[in-house]
Amino acid sequence: MKTEIYQIDEVNPQSFYIKLASDVITGGGTVAFPTETVYGIGANALDYKAVKKIYEAKGRHSDNPLIVHIHEASQLKKIAVSIPPISEPLIRKFWPGPITLIFKKSHAVPDATSGGLDTVAIRMPRSNISLALIKESGCPIAAPSANISGKPSPTSADHVIKDLDGKVNMILDGGNTEIGIESTVIDLTEQIPVLLRPGAVTLEAIQNTIGEVNIDPSILGNYSELSQKSPGMKYNHYSPNAQLILVEGSESNKRKKIGELVEKLIIKNKKVGVMTTDKSFQCNAHLIKFMGSNYESIARDLFGNLRFADYYGVDTIIVEGIDDKEMGLAIMNRLRKAADIKVVT
Ligand code: TXA
Ligand code: MG
Repeated sequence: MKTEIYQIDEVNPQSFYIKLASDVITGGGTVAFPTETVYGIGANALDYKAVKKIYEAKGRHSDNPLIVHIHEASQLKKIAVSIPPISEPLIRKFWPGPITLIFKKSHAVPDATSGGLDTVAIRMPRSNISLALIKESGCPIAAPSANISGKPSPTSADHVIKDLDGKVNMILDGGNTEIGIESTVIDLTEQIPVLLRPGAVTLEAIQNTIGEVNIDPSILGNYSELSQKSPGMKYNHYSPNAQLILVEGSESNKRKKIGELVEKLIIKNKKVGVMTTDKSFQCNAHLIKFMGSNYESIARDLFGNLRFADYYGVDTIIVEGIDDKEMGLAIMNRLRKAADIKVVT
């Protein structure tokens, strides 16, 4: 398949390109497009044949459900039933934005979209390109992250092209995404809401809005069968080709440990990369990447840095862990899932 690629303006998306892309969606095809979190690969959420093309393009397991994107709250009632009152303050405060809410699904949503579950994950993104595309298409758009399954999510059109060129009908290139990690996912079908995936809408912000929230154990690194409420969580994720070693602990212990690991690997003739939050960190690694100075900048560049390590050809990338607070929880969740080896010092 030939993939058409168009550059489009996030501030003021050109209606010409939005129309081209929406024609692909309504015609049952696939379009990769930027959201404020990461790029998604989208298709008409209510057309199971179109949705199957997403799974094929990504090499995604069919039991791993997709997020359905809407542009206005009125679309919610067509695809979800038994919408609990607790969703109202969340929608008022955080939509459009980087939070996905899980409801019981209506009959309009094919099993292909919900991975066979009786629930559906719904999000109203705030990216202008996303909103314009959903509106023009006249249907909700199912869109997982636009990467090959298991790889880091794409935060630029280049990342999408590397993974999906020739596998998707169209790519809208709207530049780098604003947030850099995927939306927060919260299950509202339980008596007490359950955080299934942390994101830029933080646990603290959700608790301040609705009170008690349970946390899926897998978020903290416990991947026992029992805790796997979100089907996507059991699959390998965010992994660069390089081996990833995540080092957690106190500031000084972490950096000492990283230095020691670098020496050990270099003796074994390995090409080594380090990702650190210390701007002046020095060691003998072949590549030293500064991760950023706050949660926002670390999140924005996280997947790009992991992809860069592969591009640079390192055998091992050693990543310095950060605090689990606020957006740090989301960053550490991605890193723990990507890690081949976790070291706590
Ligand atoms: O920011 C985002 O959410 C991006 C952009 C494109 O919107 N999308 C995204 O989709 O990250 P995806 O498919 O890569 O991740 C969706 C996650 C998966 O872990 C999936 O298992 C979970 O949400 N999920 C989807 N529907 C679910 C459901 N009904 N119940 C439980 N988990 C669900
Ligand atoms: Mg994904």
